[in-house]
Amino acid sequence: MSDASTTLAWPRGFLWGVSSSSYQIEGAASEDGRGPSIWDTRCRTQGKVARGDTGDIACDHYHRYAEDVALMQRLGVDAYRFSVAWPRLLPRGRGQASPRGLDFYDRLIDALLGAGIEPWICLYHWDLPQALEGLGGWTQRDCAGWFADYAALAARRYGDRVRRWATFNELAVFTLFGYAQDWGAPGIADRAAHLRAIHHVNLAHGAAVDVVRALVPGASIGAIHNRQPIWPEQDTADDRAAAALLDEHWNHAFPSPQILGHYPPQVSAAIEPYVQAGDLARICRPQDWFGLNHYGPIFARADAATTWGFTWGSPPADAPRSEIGWPIYPGAFRDVLIELTRAYRLPIYVTENGAGGRDAPNAAGEVEDPGRIAFLKAYIGAMHEAVTAGADVRGYFVWSLLDSFEWGAGYGEGFGIVHVDRATMARTPKASFRWYADLIHAARTAAMG
Ligand code: FCB
Repeated sequence: MSDASTTLAWPRGFLWGVSSSSYQIEGAASEDGRGPSIWDTRCRTQGKVARGDTGDIACDHYHRYAEDVALMQRLGVDAYRFSVAWPRLLPRGRGQASPRGLDFYDRLIDALLGAGIEPWICLYHWDLPQALEGLGGWTQRDCAGWFADYAALAARRYGDRVRRWATFNELAVFTLFGYAQDWGAPGIADRAAHLRAIHHVNLAHGAAVDVVRALVPGASIGAIHNRQPIWPEQDTADDRAAAALLDEHWNHAFPSPQILGHYPPQVSAAIEPYVQAGDLARICRPQDWFGLNHYGPIFARADAATTWGFTWGSPPADAPRSEIGWPIYPGAFRDVLIELTRAYRLPIYVTENGAGGRDAPNAAGEVEDPGRIAFLKAYIGAMHEAVTAGADVRGYFVWSLLDSFEWGAGYGEGFGIVHVDRATMARTPKASFRWYADLIHAARTAAMG
């Protein structure tokens, strides 16, 4: 096949990968000693997840990981980013570890290495052990220490084979949605709880960076952040103010203290009561890369009824959108990559990018997803423009390998390049899988040639 994106030349060593997360694909929610997480609880709370979907079975990856690794090998990826489930390693969040939980990731890591795929571990993709939530979860300062102990357990166990470590996935999203908006677990909507969660997650990040650095020789450590332009829905003073505050929360409340050593101005003023002497030095620890998750810009609207006075508005009526309605602006992706390189001077890995849809097999059993292919082409093309303009991008991971549990949307929105039949769990690579395999092959050939 040949089209513009498969003939682009990429920097030598550029990584191609796919991403996933534990709760979204593993299933086996109460098997082999796994304890409940705050997402198990949320799925059982009436009205919080579409159709009452749960991660109990998810994609049954816990049992089918070997098949999934074989799919990745066929795809030809260099790297696979997955998350470790804290409640699988430590069913109560701290104390006694689960030997069988620990064994699962040994099997997964060994299968990946055997297939020539580099494992990238993310320590936290939103599944806080419910037992810790019972003690206050991220609103408790102690949670940073509990996280550091969990990070040490994982680093000791897997650090002989895994060099790439991310502390957290989308710190702004799970704190804002979970503690200010009630759009995610644990479903709190309170300013003080949100501010405390922000600060304690930042402290946990800093502590985990130190722990992993100390325990894993040659570790390469980062955190994974959302970054997208926040534009006012209407050009009014209220929407502009809403956009400015959301921009601080979404784009700066974590990277700024972690990389630059300070909170952005409005968050800084509000969070001060929870900050102790020396905290910013504890948070701002040397990192090796910046993980970027990016989908599209956010249109902010003022809404006095929400915790912070902002909410998500609508893109302009003529904005191109994916099948699930997310706006498509590849130029914003290019600009963000360039801006991040200037702001933080860290190598960037795009740890998530992709498009949601509602794909199903056709009569011939094939899954055609031209919208996703067009999206990936446009975004990968924009990333190439950014690289050409000097952005220091070192790799790109598609979200996601499999159609998986998409939080509040349940299984109604699939981002996979592989379709998963909900009844049989059968995996069917979509047309986008073949397209991405061709791109990786062509990029590798061009880089080597
Ligand atoms: C990101 C999440 C990921 C997935 C995608 C669509 O915000 O990190 O788990 O849900 O969105």
